[in-house]
Amino acid sequence: MALIRVKPDDLDQVAAVVRIQNAARRIDDPAAWPQLVELMAGELAYGWDLEPPEQFLYTPDGAEHPVATLAIDLPLRDNRHLFWTQIVVHPDHRRRGHGSRLMHEVLRMAHEAGRPTIWAEAVEADLGARAFVERFGFVYASHDARRRQVLAEVDPEVINGLYITAERAAADYQLERLQPPTADGLLSELVEVTAAINDAPMGELTFEDEVFDLARLQDSETARRQRGDHSYRVVARHRQTGEIGGHTVVVTHPLRPTVAFQADTAVARAHRGHRLGLLLKIDMLRWLAEAEPQVEVIDTWNNADNEFMIKVNEILGYRLSQVYATYELNRAG
Ligand SMILES: CC(C)(COP(=O)(O)OP(=O)(O)OC[C@H]1O[C@@H](n2cnc3c(N)ncnc32)[C@H](O)[C@@H]1OP(=O)(O)O)[C@@H](O)C(=O)NCCC(=O)NCCS
Repeated sequence: MALIRVKPDDLDQVAAVVRIQNAARRIDDPAAWPQLVELMAGELAYGWDLEPPEQFLYTPDGAEHPVATLAIDLPLRDNRHLFWTQIVVHPDHRRRGHGSRLMHEVLRMAHEAGRPTIWAEAVEADLGARAFVERFGFVYASHDARRRQVLAEVDPEVINGLYITAERAAADYQLERLQPPTADGLLSELVEVTAAINDAPMGELTFEDEVFDLARLQDSETARRQRGDHSYRVVARHRQTGEIGGHTVVVTHPLRPTVAFQADTAVARAHRGHRLGLLLKIDMLRWLAEAEPQVEVIDTWNNADNEFMIKVNEILGYRLSQVYATYELNRAG
């Protein structure tokens, strides 16, 4: 078999990956947005914080064209025990052993990299994918849900009412809207609230807290800029102490102008209980309506057991769109 590592600037290779993954999405997760070549090229070049995943194209012996893709991601800043992987076999080529050959390759790569914990994700309701990973000893460990807010269905009166209530509870805070480039001093202030994401549930996954520092936040901002994202951040600053108590980030891309993606929303422990989550997200809605009026939907991802965040999202009109399971294999010892 041939396994070629995809170069982000080789758009023919990237397009081959996108063709296979979009064919799979149409079957496995039809509500997902189709991937675009330029967006994937950016993800492969820069990742989320300048530590991009690696993507491979798999062509079986004797075949002319690739039939599957393999992505791997080995975190470097923390969680160095982890080997994340995603195998996608084109729907027309399944049940012929290709996925298994790639999984054997994954096990070999993880062993070679000295990473004992392997994660694989699949649509939770896809029992075939579950049967596949369980054959290799993976066990179900956690799940993440995608929710979608259709802005035309959001009732402004309801949102205004919620805002007034939240504003009262958060009277000690003032909101600030930020767009990159963010000065280093301000980014340093955002380290703690960014790290508050570590309090989100992670199911049974073998995972340690992620480590955030100024350099990582700088790299994340650089990666977004290089990928061409437009990034919006609203922060809630505690009037008395000046501390940033919470933030929310939404990202858009000119190549997919009607869709926005919710990135982090987090409230630092000392600042919880003031409805900051709701306040921040409503202010973000208002800002987006001014800055990017063409946006029609916002997608958000949460751990499916993150009741607090999901409650806020559902009040705002987000509806469940898909659930992905994460399966884990531990090969320690
Ligand atoms: C899951 C996936 C990678 C399997 O790829 P594949 O090439 O069809 O897998 P294989 O042919 O090697 O299947 C090996 C075994 O897994 C099990 N299996 C795979 N797909 C299955 C299905 N749809 N239903 C039931 N069992 C299945 C079977 O035991 C199969 O052996 P068999 O065909 O002899 O019965 C493929 O369906 C896919 O790309 N799904 C979408 C992406 C995804 O969910 N990836 C998760 C893994 S990271």
